[in-house]
Amino acid sequence: MIISVVNGKGGVGKSTVAINLAGSLSRENGKVLLVDADPQGTASGWLKAREEQPAERVPRNGLRVTPEPWGASDLADKISAEAREMDFVVIDCGPANGKIERAALALSDFAIIPVTPSPYDIRSAKTTVDLIREGREEAGVRVKAFLLISRKVVGTSLGRDVRDALQVFDLPILKAEICHRVALCEAGIVGQTIHEYEPGSLAAEEFDILAKEVLKWRKQN
Ligand SMILES: Nc1ncnc2c1ncn2[C@@H]1O[C@H](COP(=O)(O)OP(=O)(O)OP(=O)(O)O)[C@@H](O)[C@H]1O
Ligand SMILES: [Mg+2]
Repeated sequence: MIISVVNGKGGVGKSTVAINLAGSLSRENGKVLLVDADPQGTASGWLKAREEQPAERVPRNGLRVTPEPWGASDLADKISAEAREMDFVVIDCGPANGKIERAALALSDFAIIPVTPSPYDIRSAKTTVDLIREGREEAGVRVKAFLLISRKVVGTSLGRDVRDALQVFDLPILKAEICHRVALCEAGIVGQTIHEYEPGSLAAEEFDILAKEVLKWRKQN
């Protein structure tokens, strides 16, 4: 199963979601490849920090990460062969709606669009939703897209209202919600997943809920 994490708006939590979803899926469900498809190199930078950690902090499991960002042609050339060897491929897209994102979406079974509970960010997500619709209508792209509430600040009206506000896109909204939690940022800096950095935390639980929803897709597929 190939899953793109995509939203042309910067800073909505794509890389945080891609890294920790890949981490959560790899814990019990075999081989996962996290593809850095952002020229900024966030996921591959995370891998470099990870490689500097002592082995006990980053247990060896089925998680692999591309050591360098892949462009559109790398995706097209390499992903099918990689996907055959993997249970899941998670693609971390960059803050754009361009060639790389189109290539990623064309190759994906599912897309997760993280959206933060801000009216500006909700409006900006429209460009990505339109990109997916265009791909479906004009290029026969078969990706199934889901919105994911990301960086929600608990106890705020924006956080409470976001689910209603997202109805405007007429796309399914994942039940999982990823709240704004400092541990996610800290874990990213040291190259760990949230399960490695703060096992049993609320943030780790939120990613378990997300991973369960993704595993259900596999059963339905
Ligand atoms: N749920 C969260 N809780 C706390 N901090 C978060 C959360 N999600 C993201 N962040 C922080 O916000 C910043 C942007 O997050 P991230 O890099 O995941 O976003 P992005 O959408 O991948 O950005 P870009 O568009 O630049 O690729 C980072 O510093 C990250 O640590
Ligand atoms: Mg990113």
